[in-house]
Order: sequence, then C-alpha cells, then structure tokens
Amino acid sequence: MPLAGICEKFRLFPFRSRMGTIARGYPAKILPHLFVRWFSCPFELIEPHVPRQGVICDLGCGHGLMLHRLASLLPPEATLLGFDIDKEKIGFARAFDHDHRIWFEARDILAALDLRDVTCLILNDVLHMLSYSHQELLLQRCFDCLAKEGVLILKEINAQASWKYWWAGIQAYFVKDVFRLTRGEGFHPRSVGCLTGLLEKIGFKVDVLPAHQGYPYPHMIFLCHKG
Ligand SMILES: C[S@@+](CC[C@H](N)C(=O)[O-])C[C@H]1O[C@@H](n2cnc3c(N)ncnc32)[C@H](O)[C@@H]1O
Repeated sequence: MPLAGICEKFRLFPFRSRMGTIARGYPAKILPHLFVRWFSCPFELIEPHVPRQGVICDLGCGHGLMLHRLASLLPPEATLLGFDIDKEKIGFARAFDHDHRIWFEARDILAALDLRDVTCLILNDVLHMLSYSHQELLLQRCFDCLAKEGVLILKEINAQASWKYWWAGIQAYFVKDVFRLTRGEGFHPRSVGCLTGLLEKIGFKVDVLPAHQGYPYPHMIFLCHKG
C-alpha cells in the first residue's frame, strides 16, 4: 500500500481521536490489535456498498470497527446493530459509542438470529472461522432474515492457492491459537466458485468483487442480493 494510502487509512481509523484513552485504559494488546485489523482489512471497500438507511447488522462485529465508521457516515435514520460472541469486544465497542448510536450485544450468531426484514447484514472475516456446516446454516439464516431487497455483504478470504492465501492461514493461526485474539472454529475458507455456488443455491444473486490489491491477503467481497 503506498504511503498516501496508509495516511488515508489512518485518517479513517474510527478510534483515531481516542487512541490515548485506549492506550491508558485498556490492555496493551488492544491498540496494536485494532491497528493490524484496520490496516489489513479493506473496510473502505465494504463501506460504499452499505445502504444509507434501514437496519444494518454486523454479525461478528468484533470491536465494532466497521459500525463505528458507519456511525460517523450514515444518517440517524439508519439503525446500526452489532453482535459478537466475545463479551470483552462488545464491552469495548459499547464503551466508545458515546452517543448510543449503535446497539451492541454479546450473542452467538449461530443461535437463532431473531431478526426480520433487515436491510443489510455484514459478515466480515467471520464465515471462514466457522465449520463448513455452520457456514451453511448461518448463510441460510441470513437469507431468511433479510428484507426482500436486502443485501448480505460478505468479506471473505479466497481459498485459491497463492502466497496471500498461505499468509492468511498463518496469520489466522497466530491470531486465534497463539495470541488468542479471536474466537472461532478454525480456518475454513472456500474458493470463490464454491462460495458463490453455495450462495446461489440458497437463493442469493451474487456479485463478486476482488479486494486484495495493496493487501497481503486474498480479500474478496461478495454482494449477495436477496431480491
Ligand atoms: C476476524 S474477527 C472479525 C471481527 C469484525 N468483523 C471485524 O471486521 O473487525 C471474527 C469475529 O467473529 C466473532 N465470532 C466468531 N464466532 C462467532 C459466533 N458464533 N457468534 C458471534 N461472533 C462470533 C469473533 O469473536 C470475532 O470477533
């Protein structure tokens, strides 16, 4: 990523003005974790595809990077929800939501989703952390709880042999099993063709956008339309 790109990404970092608070009030690993996550994932390529109104729900939202960014962009009519199984991450995300713009909840997204007519669901680097059977279950539930014209935005890792794919696997191992920074059921990415096939079988109309340029990971964005 060129220097100008790095500076622009830093400008968009949702916790930029609160870094001192994080450094002083939270475990030392949090700020580097947020930085690595922000700079390694193309949040800025996901964001333009998020509808500007309606109910937007980030499933497996982590520390809320995407939702805090959206909160600064979207009009108040948009309802923002974030669920994650990790109570500490949800506690952190909530603590920085000063104007109570976002509903954060500690929740297992594999349990019933209890959502209806949702405008947009986001699954950013969550699906490949679930077993293949849980992936299918979750995608079907996403389809069921979306509104007719709703969209699921899926950011995934392309399981096609390349150095970026191997690097993503090594990084996932360190993040989950060595540093224990995230929870999940392993590393189970699918190839673009396989994931597209599964999404279409469920009923989605799928547009696939490569998002790996400038990143050392094989990022792919799947825009999955219900209608
Ligand atoms: C790689 S992180 C991505 C976090 C966030 N989507 C982001 O882009 O920063 C994967 C997240 O999925 C969450 N997760 C894994 N399994 C989950 C489950 N069954 N229910 C809810 N969240 C889950 C983890 O706790 C973790 O925060």
